[in-house]
Amino acid sequence: MNSWFTISLSLFSFFFIKIFSTEAAPTYLFHACPNTTLFTPNSAYQSNLNTLLSSLSSAAADGADGFANATVGQNSPDQLYGLFLCRGDVNTATCSDCVATGKQDILQRCPNQRVSVIWYDECMLRYSDGSIYSVMEQVPSFKMYHTRNITNPTHFMRVLGETMDDIAARASVGKSGKKVAVAEANFTSLQKLYTLAQCTPDLMVSECNTCFRAAIAGLPRGKQGGRLFTPSCSMRFELYPFYNASAMAALVPPPSYLHSPSAPVTRRKGMFVFVIFLPL
Ligand SMILES: *[C@@H]1O[C@H](CO)[C@@H](O)[C@H](O)[C@H]1NC(C)=O
Ligand SMILES: *[C@@H]1O[C@H](CO)[C@@H](O)[C@H](O)[C@H]1NC(C)=O
Ligand SMILES: *[C@@H]1O[C@H](CO)[C@@H](O)[C@H](O)[C@H]1NC(C)=O
Ligand SMILES: *[C@@H]1O[C@H](CO)[C@@H](O)[C@H](O)[C@H]1NC(C)=O
Ligand SMILES: *[C@@H]1O[C@H](CO)[C@@H](O)[C@H](O)[C@H]1NC(C)=O
Repeated sequence: MNSWFTISLSLFSFFFIKIFSTEAAPTYLFHACPNTTLFTPNSAYQSNLNTLLSSLSSAAADGADGFANATVGQNSPDQLYGLFLCRGDVNTATCSDCVATGKQDILQRCPNQRVSVIWYDECMLRYSDGSIYSVMEQVPSFKMYHTRNITNPTHFMRVLGETMDDIAARASVGKSGKKVAVAEANFTSLQKLYTLAQCTPDLMVSECNTCFRAAIAGLPRGKQGGRLFTPSCSMRFELYPFYNASAMAALVPPPSYLHSPSAPVTRRKGMFVFVIFLPL
């Protein structure tokens, strides 16, 4: 069973965030902490959690190439597992910044939680009292969509479907320790579709595929942009370039980049709606 919350973020709040945040600050998207299992303040769990978050944050700063996991504690009640994943196109500095912000933020947004996850545009950070490394996890999940409708939904869905299938397959296979893929596609002669799929690199090809299949099925329909996030994978599409194509090309040059010059990254302001699914 899922509980639903729909939160509209107004144009105003987007400008507000933009004006009152520094350029480098990561863009917070969502966090989830079920709030059913809490740890005792000043317990061994809390101290282990601090160690875990510091270790992940150091790994990010040391250039862990966008992903790292950590384990702290010896025995079951006080043992913790954690990992972070940075978006495939962000550099070490941005990744490190994001994880460092998440390290502080997650403790404030999820006080005394034994299990938590936080998402930013640039990274995802999570920890748990159960093993999470190489475990595919599809909950909690949330999605966001651009409020603007698509003009030719039938054609759009066909192009989107083909492109998403393509990047899901490429990202699942992954190379150089990253399971990420992007693709551009022609929607109309004037509009291009930009897509990104990413899976945590600790998962098997089949697990990433399963995660992506569910994400594709859950992506918003009829909208100009959409994103779906789970702890194990995420997918996004927009009618504007939202990822760094040069960074992606340097990572795994896909054939399409041979004849399409990379578009500059643009930050589009607009109305977004969050649709959030949390397991109860
Ligand atoms: C989470 O738990 C704390 C402490 O029990 C409580 O004060 C808070 O309201 C809870 N939050 C939610 C969202 O249930
Ligand atoms: C990450 O998880 C794997 C599998 O459990 C483990 O072998 C490895 O030591 C972990 N790395 C860290 C830094 O904890
Ligand atoms: C988008 O389409 C839906 C359903 O067709 C409609 O209810 C809604 O008003 C449209 N929104 C915009 C911004 O045009
Ligand atoms: C998109 O259209 C342009 C111009 O018509 C063409 O050169 C390019 O190869 C097309 N891209 C894809 C991915 O089909
Ligand atoms: C995109 O990536 C390239 C190559 O890594 C980098 O030089 C450039 O600064 C990046 N651009 C942005 C806007 O982050």
